Amino acid sequence: MTRRIIELLRHGQPTETVTVKGWVRTKRELKEFTFVEVNDGSSLQGLQVVLKQTLPNYAESLKQLNTGASIEVRGDLVESEGKNQRIELQATEVKIWGEADPETYPLQKKRHSFEFLRTLGHLRSRTNTLGAVFRVRNACATAIHQFFQERGFLWVHTPIVTASDCEGAGEMFAVTSFNLKQVPLTPNQTVDYSQDFFERPAFLTVSGQLEAEIMAMAFSNVYTFGPTFRAENSNTSRHLAEFWMVEPEMAFCDLEGDMDLAEAFLKYIFQHVLTTCPEDMEFFQQRIDSSVLDTAQNIIENQFERLTYTEAIALLEKSPKSFDFPVKWGLDLQSEHERYLAEDLFKKPVIVTDYPTEIKAFYMRLSDDEKTVRAMDILAPKIGEIIGGSQREERLDVLQRRIQAQGLNPDDYWWYLDLRRYGTVPHAGFGLGFERLVQFMTGMENIRDVIPFPRTPGSAEF
Ligand code: 4AD
Ligand code: MG
Repeated sequence: MTRRIIELLRHGQPTETVTVKGWVRTKRELKEFTFVEVNDGSSLQGLQVVLKQTLPNYAESLKQLNTGASIEVRGDLVESEGKNQRIELQATEVKIWGEADPETYPLQKKRHSFEFLRTLGHLRSRTNTLGAVFRVRNACATAIHQFFQERGFLWVHTPIVTASDCEGAGEMFAVTSFNLKQVPLTPNQTVDYSQDFFERPAFLTVSGQLEAEIMAMAFSNVYTFGPTFRAENSNTSRHLAEFWMVEPEMAFCDLEGDMDLAEAFLKYIFQHVLTTCPEDMEFFQQRIDSSVLDTAQNIIENQFERLTYTEAIALLEKSPKSFDFPVKWGLDLQSEHERYLAEDLFKKPVIVTDYPTEIKAFYMRLSDDEKTVRAMDILAPKIGEIIGGSQREERLDVLQRRIQAQGLNPDDYWWYLDLRRYGTVPHAGFGLGFERLVQFMTGMENIRDVIPFPRTPGSAEF
């Protein structure tokens, strides 16, 4: 039976006979034998395989065993004399499945820039860094499901194709089966959507929240975890056109309960990753960002700072730092402001609440003064906004008023309004940007390097 390398590194015992399958990372030829490091993706460290000259196909194998080649090795585990590994594999049989020509295979030993690796979307996952990132990403996803399942939340699957713009920001990709060379028009020369596949304008979803609210009104506590899409043309290291979002929604919950859940949630994920991926996290600490382990401890151990938007503006106005964007009550916080609060001032995540009504979405609960809504954003050092959430407006008349005030058509939201007509309850939820979480966890600079196949303006090849 084939064994995974991580399991052998952790628990393999000398004298066991095992088979491993994987890809060659390095080859080191000595006089009487050759060392080959094999990696199967299960761990950062590979397994050292020793090929002795006495192997029947030694000379031929050696020619084919180059970086990137896929191989199967059978042999005996022995204690290693080298200091870099506890055990190694003495090969008795070697089979080469696929060669990798050293003249053309682009991932040779030297370190490549992340930018260059992005042009190799089909190969870059075989590198140490991207390998560690995607194992940590997997551990984050596991922690997310575990956290909610332990607390009795139902995982609900919200649609990717939708007719409603949840955030009202008009940043949606259209979904159509029209032949774009011949779009049917109405007598008024507008697009005749009644002839399109869904018989109405349809889009890729920007958020599963509105549908999650439907499900929360039946199951009390639910969460979504899936891809979302935004056609905002932001070419930054924090924005993707396709990203994954986690959105819990809780009935009978207010903003305080929402913040408590979000804080416990982030702490849980960090703890889980530290426990399950210690080697990968150590690698990020040494090679990517020497503060990731301290950051993780800081998240787990310290209470997040909570302050209102109004208090945040006062702090920013007093700041000795000069900002590119203006600071004024009523204007949205920019990433430089968010980072100043979290990184410089409090040196930990900051939860900012009660934003001005005008700059937030229609569904957020209006406060009595009507100037602010019960919103909360969690701002993380180095990342800025990582979570955005709110208590929802559960009062029918106020919600209708807010939809109108934002220039949206209440008829389009009839079913959303029905939730307030039939059995409405106070409720709240938030959205965590999954890739921003993985960036925060690993210290990776660019969001394009924490998702296997990044979609950004002008880029969707792999
Ligand atoms: O703040 P946002 O827009 O909130 C919502 O969509 C709500 N409906 C969530 C809810 O209450 N259920 O987005 C939530 C998070 C942001 O805080 C950010 O981390 C991430 O999604 N995000 C992005 N991540 C990568 N690329 C983008 N273009 C992103 N836009 C938002
Ligand atoms: Mg937001």
